[in-house]
Amino acid sequence: MEPDISASDQLPRHVAIIMDGNGRWAKQRNQARHAGHRAGVEATRAIIEDCVRRGVSCLTLFAFSSENWQRPKQEVSLLMELFVQSLKKEMGKLNDNGVCVRFIGDRSAFSARLQKQINAAEQLTRDNNVLTLSIAANYGGRWDITQAARKVAEKIEAGEFKAADLTEQHLSAAMSLADLPPPDLFIRTGGEKRISNFLLWQLAYTELYFTDVLWPDFNQDCYHDALAFYTRRERRFGKTSEQITKVQG
Ligand code: IPE
Ligand code: IPE
Ligand code: MG
Repeated sequence: MEPDISASDQLPRHVAIIMDGNGRWAKQRNQARHAGHRAGVEATRAIIEDCVRRGVSCLTLFAFSSENWQRPKQEVSLLMELFVQSLKKEMGKLNDNGVCVRFIGDRSAFSARLQKQINAAEQLTRDNNVLTLSIAANYGGRWDITQAARKVAEKIEAGEFKAADLTEQHLSAAMSLADLPPPDLFIRTGGEKRISNFLLWQLAYTELYFTDVLWPDFNQDCYHDALAFYTRRERRFGKTSEQITKVQG
């Protein structure tokens, strides 16, 4: 039987996506990589709208990794320009739809203009609660763990508690997305089966879904397939299958 993904208890609360394959999508069409990134923005818009419609309450998107600075200069600057333009264009509608937009990652590396726009988007949408959209930009999972460790170390240095009393909770609370439920479903498009330094800490118990579909082609049917995959998983969190079925039944 087809799983009923319209039932809200079957829906992931938090979906995290590595939107990969823009460059190859463009190459297939003999176009410049940038055309792929532009088409990728369209796919992103559709998936955000789908989350709002279905009631997925948190969506985290990998837009630019800390390693993506190593790409050709021209591609990086075109990507930055695309971020600026897309934010400007989409923010009003996102706000109208009740989307709370936030950024995770080291924003200090971005231009003053982009930083200003990021801050403005966050301010404008901060009280919205239909969907929390976290955009990972200049983000790396190792960066995240490092910045969390630094915050915790500062507390220890300030005498708030002793290093011997450090718990997982201290680190968890200092990580990006600490106030959200951890991702239930991870999606990577574009065929690669790797995490590429995305949410290393937060993905500990996330269900992982990989598809060969290139991001600009990832439409609502593809998203539906990923959600259906999720509803078929048995999430055991270290327990036995029998324990899980007993709790549910
Ligand atoms: C993902 O698509 C977008 C970003 C990393 C910004 P890619 O640009 O990595 O596309 P491929 O992997 O080269 O096809
Ligand atoms: C991961 O994709 C980063 C984003 C989608 C923003 P990449 O295309 O950069 O990952 P690798 O280089 O194939 O691991
Ligand atoms: Mg890629």
